[in-house]
Amino acid sequence: MLTDVERSRPWSFSGKSGDLPGGDPNDVKAAPTFIIEAVVFDINCETSRLTNTSIFPFFMTLLLRTFRPSTFRTLVPLSATPKHLYQKSTPLSKNSTAAYQTSHTANSNAGALPKQMSSIPSLKLNDGNEIPFLGYGLGTARYKPDPNSPEDPELVKTVVQAIKTGYYHLDGAEVYGNEKELGTAIKEAGVPREKLYVTTKISGTKVQNTQEAFELSLKKLGLDYVDQYLIHAPYFANGSEADLQAKWADLEAIHASGKAKSIGVSNFLQKDLEAILKTAKIIPAINQIEYHPYLQHGDLVDFHRKHGIATSAYGPLTAIIRAAPGPLDGTYDELARKYGVTPGEIALRWVIDQGIVALTTSGSEQRLKQYQKIALFKLTPKEIETISEIGKKKNFRGFWKDKFAPDDWS
Ligand SMILES: NC(=O)c1ccc[n+]([C@@H]2O[C@H](COP(=O)([O-])OP(=O)(O)OC[C@H]3O[C@@H](n4cnc5c(N)ncnc54)[C@H](OP(=O)(O)O)[C@@H]3O)[C@@H](O)[C@H]2O)c1
Repeated sequence: MLTDVERSRPWSFSGKSGDLPGGDPNDVKAAPTFIIEAVVFDINCETSRLTNTSIFPFFMTLLLRTFRPSTFRTLVPLSATPKHLYQKSTPLSKNSTAAYQTSHTANSNAGALPKQMSSIPSLKLNDGNEIPFLGYGLGTARYKPDPNSPEDPELVKTVVQAIKTGYYHLDGAEVYGNEKELGTAIKEAGVPREKLYVTTKISGTKVQNTQEAFELSLKKLGLDYVDQYLIHAPYFANGSEADLQAKWADLEAIHASGKAKSIGVSNFLQKDLEAILKTAKIIPAINQIEYHPYLQHGDLVDFHRKHGIATSAYGPLTAIIRAAPGPLDGTYDELARKYGVTPGEIALRWVIDQGIVALTTSGSEQRLKQYQKIALFKLTPKEIETISEIGKKKNFRGFWKDKFAPDDWS
């Protein structure tokens, strides 16, 4: 049963196009949540809380064993991804000690940096830049229907909370209507700009001047550069290769200006990528697609790997939320028990363990913290394969449904 609060959240998008909210929340079954009461190992927990527990020595042992540098190295299970595609960043950088910071509390913003997800590694893109493997999305549940309505302080608060919880990779877009709120949240969170990874996207359905749209996005965000600028979807081109190629050339010009460190695409199929690769001077750094076990897109991810294009996955929790119940429920529950996490972390780990960036979102601080537990385990290659195989028994698309025939799983 969904609670009233869950019912009021527009996070089911069945029947709607794109990553805009809509649909009936009652379609969606809440996934079971397994909280391991005995070992509430929160990587952001504060030492003071730990010392108050009778199992403090156990925690300390676990902490030391878990976070020594050699263990960090083993936390990036990218064996399923060709080596040329990724290179793990060094998680124990000068910032990473923040995982142990004890100074930050909900009320203390001044003087102390928010804690960071130092244990969440990054993926090295084909242009040498690094993108954190876990991102916080400003679309779907955070989408603002009227971009011209006054700034929404509640939305700003939610995003500030996400940043303070350690989500430094922020996935925005022109069409989410909330670039202003994202910009304000970035300022209020007090995290130095260079520590954040900010993406925005030009509308994928509207025909418009790219440079003007980009400058407007920067203005709304209050930033002088973004880490990543994407073409949200290929649909504006109406199948015209020339239009796709021209738009990509516009992004290349923006990249050359230094105002977008990486450029890429979203919702592109192989044919769309092939079209721009014919004339591209820069290979797209990434293709952001709906990706979960019930929508694996045939050979698309292999095509990305072949061309050095990274993949980022939106809707990574689909199998446990909007597409549940499904054939994977038992497997997710079993693996969640094995690793002492919730099915959500198993769903995220299945994405990340393939060298794919996962984009999620939540209004719940508790959930956001829970998802950081992905840093504490990894799936075995066999488990990844099992999920992939069982996932093929069901097909489900949650976004951009009006662009595909009901039996088209490309
Ligand atoms: N490029 C595109 O076309 C495109 C399309 C879609 C999305 N995106 C990007 O990807 C981001 C993430 O997409 P997404 O929202 O589909 O991600 P998701 O991770 O699949 O779903 C997140 C949603 O699920 C809910 N949720 C999380 N854990 C749950 C649980 N255990 N049980 C029940 N509900 C749970 C969250 O709501 P609570 O607040 O209740 O936790 C949140 O609304 C978007 O915000 C956007 O930035 C891009």
